[in-house]
Amino acid sequence: MTFGIRRSRPWALPEREVTDEGLWNERRRFLRLGAAAAVAGLAPPVARAAGVPRTPPLAGVRRAPPPPERPNTWEQITGYCNFYEFGTGKRDPARYAGRLRTRPWSVVVEGECERPGEVGIEEILRFPLEERIYRLRCVEGWSMVIPWVGFPLRLLLERFKPTSAARYVAFETLHEPDRMPGQRRTFLDWPYREGLRMDEAVHPLTILAVGLYGRVLPKPNGAPLRLVVPWKYGFKSIKSIVRIRLVREQPPTTWSQAAPHEYGFYANVNPDVPHPRWSQRYERRIGELRRRPTLLFNGYAEQVAHLYAGMDLRRYF
Ligand code: MTE
Repeated sequence: MTFGIRRSRPWALPEREVTDEGLWNERRRFLRLGAAAAVAGLAPPVARAAGVPRTPPLAGVRRAPPPPERPNTWEQITGYCNFYEFGTGKRDPARYAGRLRTRPWSVVVEGECERPGEVGIEEILRFPLEERIYRLRCVEGWSMVIPWVGFPLRLLLERFKPTSAARYVAFETLHEPDRMPGQRRTFLDWPYREGLRMDEAVHPLTILAVGLYGRVLPKPNGAPLRLVVPWKYGFKSIKSIVRIRLVREQPPTTWSQAAPHEYGFYANVNPDVPHPRWSQRYERRIGELRRRPTLLFNGYAEQVAHLYAGMDLRRYF
């Protein structure tokens, strides 16, 4: 399936329609879902989650063609999150991430590159923004379809001119325990860290997201900018990034350090490689009751399988 890649198509909506059009159909769908659940006598818990208020629209976003799968609602995407800096409950980010200050914000890019430096969020928002409608599959067994707004990570990295020694890219989230109370607890080694191999980082599907549904990225989802790598489990998609380091060796990452036998560096979605606590065969799309089969590389095998040719995916999980 090629779903997820932006292609210029005559039937794609013109740019000017994007920003205010972002919440297309959403309300109707939400109501329909609620009505169906009422008839069935049970409401899927996340359909009731209030989510967070709408953020301001982003200008000039190039809209994606209509996706073959229906995106989850704003309420679901912003109201059911993993952002342990604000607590371990799925609703905690919607409740508490309002404390996060996203201005001023800048990202340091350093390490194996010719022009190390810092880039401010205002400049980041001037990259050509496009909508990318991707599946997100969490290692816990739930999934969503999310209309991100962002741009390829490659465009940012190129500005800093990585040298041939840069074989991996390491990312770090903001560390501010005063505003991120989860960071006062010691169950993870803060700040949250993630990493990619360079060919994964510059792959056209890998984006830095700055928005959602044509609007500014909400805080529970990792404002003001987060990584999105759609063929990997969601924990790779690190939120609220402040530092990017180009490095020679595979960098340590938060979850693989915390539980190396459970979480690998690669974390490619793979129904054939079970997690010790969760079979990865099936997943539950948030808002649906029935489980559906999980797809290899989360359905993006056509685009990314070649990156792992010859690698034993059980060993490099
Ligand atoms: N990034 C940071 N900094 N802290 C986190 O706790 N959780 C990860 C990932 N990025 C996390 C993070 C996990 S486990 C998932 S599944 C996704 O974010 C969830 O993204 P979402 O809440 O926007 O759906």
